[in-house]
Amino acid sequence: MRLSIISVLFLATCTALAAPIDSIKGRQEDIAPGLVLRNGVTYTRNALGLTARSDVYDDYRLERRVNAAKKQANKDARKDRKTAAKAEVQKSKQKAITQANKSVDKATAKTPAHIASAERAGQSAAATKKADMKAASQAKHEQLKAAGKEYKKTADLPARTAQFTVPAGGGKPERTYTGKDVRKANFGSHIKNNSGDRFGKQFNNNPHAVPGPDGSTRPIPGMTGPGHEHPLSPATTFSQMKKDHKAEPARIISQTNNHKGVIAHDQSRTAGHPGENDHFLVHPSRAFLEEFFSEVVY
Ligand SMILES: *[C@@H]1O[C@H](CO)[C@@H](O)[C@H](O)[C@H]1NC(C)=O
Ligand SMILES: *[C@@H]1O[C@H](CO)[C@@H](O)[C@H](O)[C@H]1NC(C)=O
Repeated sequence: MRLSIISVLFLATCTALAAPIDSIKGRQEDIAPGLVLRNGVTYTRNALGLTARSDVYDDYRLERRVNAAKKQANKDARKDRKTAAKAEVQKSKQKAITQANKSVDKATAKTPAHIASAERAGQSAAATKKADMKAASQAKHEQLKAAGKEYKKTADLPARTAQFTVPAGGGKPERTYTGKDVRKANFGSHIKNNSGDRFGKQFNNNPHAVPGPDGSTRPIPGMTGPGHEHPLSPATTFSQMKKDHKAEPARIISQTNNHKGVIAHDQSRTAGHPGENDHFLVHPSRAFLEEFFSEVVY
C-alpha cells in the first residue's frame, strides 16, 4: 500500500477511536466522585484505588472495581438482611417462651416438662415467623417484578443523564434530579401494596392558583385527562415514599404507560402563599443533542 493511503487510513482509525474514548472519560467522571451503592455506602475514587491518571486502562480498572464494589455491597446488604431476619425470628421465639413462662407459677416454670413445652411453643412461633417473613419477601419480590414490567413499557422517559433543577427558595436548598432519578421514581410508582394500590394520587392538572413567571396556566400545558402523581423519589416502600413526598419539592406525572413530565413546587412560595400548592413543569437543563448522544453511548 502506498504511504499516503496508509496515512489516511491511520488518521481515520484514530478519529473513530477518539470518540468512544472521550465518552468513556465522561462516564468515568460521572461514576467516580462518590458512587452511592445499594446499601448507601459511598465509594470515592480513592476508596476504589484509582489514581488521578485518566486513560483507557484506568477506565477498564474503574469498571472492574466498580463492579467488584457493587458485588461486595450487595453481598454485605444480603448478609445484613439475613442477620436482621434471624434476630426477628429469635425475638418471636423468646416472646413465646416468656409467654409460656408467665402462664405458670415459678415452681412449675422450672419443671423439665414445662421447659420442654415452652421450648416447643418457642420453636413453633419461630417457624410461623419465618414462614410469614418468607411469604412477605416473596410478595415484595413479585410486586417489584410487576412494577419492573410496567416501567419497561413506559414511553417518553428522559435520558438518564438529563438534569432537572428546582431552584432554592423559602430557605430550602436547590435540588437537582437526573433522568435516572426520574426513571427510578417511575419504577417505584408502579409498585402495588398488598391491597393492589399504587402510592401517590390522581393528578388533575388543575389550573395554577397563582400563575408562574413562565406564563403557564397549568402544571403540564397540553395534557388532557387525569394522570398519576408520584414523588420524585427512589423509594420502593410506601413509608419511604411518604417521607420523600413531604421532603422533596418534585413529582413525576404519568398517564397509563407514558411519562408526562417532572413538576415541582416553587420553593419560594412558603406556607400561606395563595399559590403554595401550585406545581410547575421542570424542563431538563441539558441540551437535546447532548442527551441524545449520551443516551446512544450509555
Ligand atoms: C423460661 O423459664 C425457664 C425455666 O425457668 C428459664 O430457663 C428460661 O430462661 C425462661 N425463658 C424466658 C424467655 O423467660
Ligand atoms: C395500600 O395503599 C393504600 C394507599 O396508600 C392504603 O390506603 C392501603 O391501606 C394500603 N394497604 C395495605 C395493605 O398496605
